[in-house]
Amino acid sequence: MRGKLIVFEGVEGSGKTTQLARSRDWLLGGGMRSCLGTLRDQISVVVTREPGGTALGLGLRKLLLEDGRRQDDVTPTPAPIQDRAELLLYAADRAQHVEEFLKPMLAKGVIILCDRYTDSTVAYQGYGRGLDLNLIQQLNQIATDGLESDLTLWLDIDAKTGLKRAQQRGAADRMEQADLDFHRRVQQGFTHLASTYPQRIVRIDASKTEEEVHLVIQKILRQRMNEWFQKLSRP
Ligand SMILES: Nc1ncnc2c1ncn2[C@@H]1O[C@H](COP(=O)(O)OP(=O)(O)OP(=O)(O)O)[C@@H](O)[C@H]1O
Ligand SMILES: [Mg+2]
Repeated sequence: MRGKLIVFEGVEGSGKTTQLARSRDWLLGGGMRSCLGTLRDQISVVVTREPGGTALGLGLRKLLLEDGRRQDDVTPTPAPIQDRAELLLYAADRAQHVEEFLKPMLAKGVIILCDRYTDSTVAYQGYGRGLDLNLIQQLNQIATDGLESDLTLWLDIDAKTGLKRAQQRGAADRMEQADLDFHRRVQQGFTHLASTYPQRIVRIDASKTEEEVHLVIQKILRQRMNEWFQKLSRP
């Protein structure tokens, strides 16, 4: 049995990492058993993220998101990452992640919870940076070798509220430092994607409390797991 790829998407501070961890805890702590019965013992859950789901990806994540340099760094300040270079670094991270981690895990029948995937590239580099959407689609195709998510949970929150949450969390990374208009365009990107791919992307109102959002996600996961694994769990 092939596994499933479940992706968490949304703007900065929408709650992806928080909700992904809560979903994992719920699935492992009894949620899977309640959906799958004894089949649960044959299915495992892993979490991963983009960028940074592999050793190579961790290096790329540092390049892409870290801001500032050590105070004692005497090398010349690097020029800002150019938009196309940024796009290609994300694509390299994804290509490695798909081959090294996602495909083998799916082949083993694992349920993967992934923090960001292809829609983030469309939203950030396409809508946010203004790069050609067809080009991004082609690049996503190359990077993923056609591997799409089975379910994408889009945590929908207004960009300003999300940024405020992210800022409260601590030091801002390179993406969070971009201006509000950029994040609004990213948000429009997710909105457009959700209306274009309603089968794959489920919108979740992420402005509610953490617990309320978790309960909505729990319900969706329950339904999907029943659909996906129903046949297998029949005697
Ligand atoms: N529903 C919620 N209501 C209020 N605060 C929340 C909610 N969900 C998460 N938070 C808080 O908002 C901050 C951002 O959440 P989180 O890190 O999960 O977002 P994220 O989408 O992963 O952000 P990023 O894109 O920057 O990785 C955290 O401090 C988290 O505790
Ligand atoms: Mg996060």
